[in-house]
Order: sequence, then C-alpha cells, then structure tokens
Amino acid sequence: KPIYVLSGPNLNLLGTREPEIYGHQTLEDVRKLCEARATSLGREIVFRQSNHEGVLIDWIQEARTEGSAIVINPAGYGHTSIAILDALKAADVPVVECHLSNPAARETFRHQTYVSLAATGVVSGFGAASYVLAVEAAAGLTA
Ligand code: DQA
Repeated sequence: KPIYVLSGPNLNLLGTREPEIYGHQTLEDVRKLCEARATSLGREIVFRQSNHEGVLIDWIQEARTEGSAIVINPAGYGHTSIAILDALKAADVPVVECHLSNPAARETFRHQTYVSLAATGVVSGFGAASYVLAVEAAAGLTA
C-alpha cells in the first residue's frame, strides 16, 4: 500500500511563499524528491495538497483503508485542528508529521501542534528534506 504524503494550506504556494522561511523549492520539487526516495525504497506514494480542512480529513480517512502510513505537513491546521487530530487517531496507521521550518524556533503559537499527539515522530526544519526524511521514516515503520 502507498504512503500518503499530505500537505495542508498555503503549501501550494511553496517556492514563492516567504522563501526566506520555506525555501525556493516548489511543492512539485518536493513531490519529485519524495517520489525518488520512495522508489529507491521500493515504495509508492500518494502526494496531495489541499487548502481545505475537510478535504484533508477525507484523504486521511482514505489512507485508513488505502494507505500504509501517513506523512503530513498540516501547515497552519496543525496548530488549530482537533478534527484533523481525530482523523489521524482514527486512521490506525503510522503518522509522521513534517514541517519545512522548525516551528519550535518560531512564534509561540507554532510551538504546539495537535497533530503531534497522533504522530509517531516529527521531522522539522530541513526544508524539502524534511519531507524526504519523513517518507524514509514512514517506510521504515511499515517495512
Ligand atoms: C509549516 C509550519 C507552520 O507553523 C505553518 O503554519 C505552515 C508551514 C512548515 O512546514 O514549516 O504553514 O507547517
């Protein structure tokens, strides 16, 4: 089963959105990097982004039956969404949270994410490489 790699709001703007924080790589660049790493590990990924909380929840529910693990960068919703936390808890597959930046080194409102309560682990602060490392971790958890 594929590893679901899900990205939340505003990450479609990657590359042009606050590049000093999030880097110059686009989400398509990130997708290609994840795809390459997954392929080298003999795994498949489903890579999706949405700005909508309910859509992300639908995909998490899909991963519950169609996926082996979830890598999620919940973006701003990580800090606010109990509904996404609930969906991840219900998913019953390993969850790896990832962030391009290191939220712990930023504003205090970014120091906590609800998603972490459902995550096996978190990869933060390595830009696009956070996603790749998270895919590796997810693959390792479901080998
Ligand atoms: C982010 C960090 C969040 O605090 C922020 O709301 C984002 C992106 C990251 O990847 O660094 O949108 O998840």
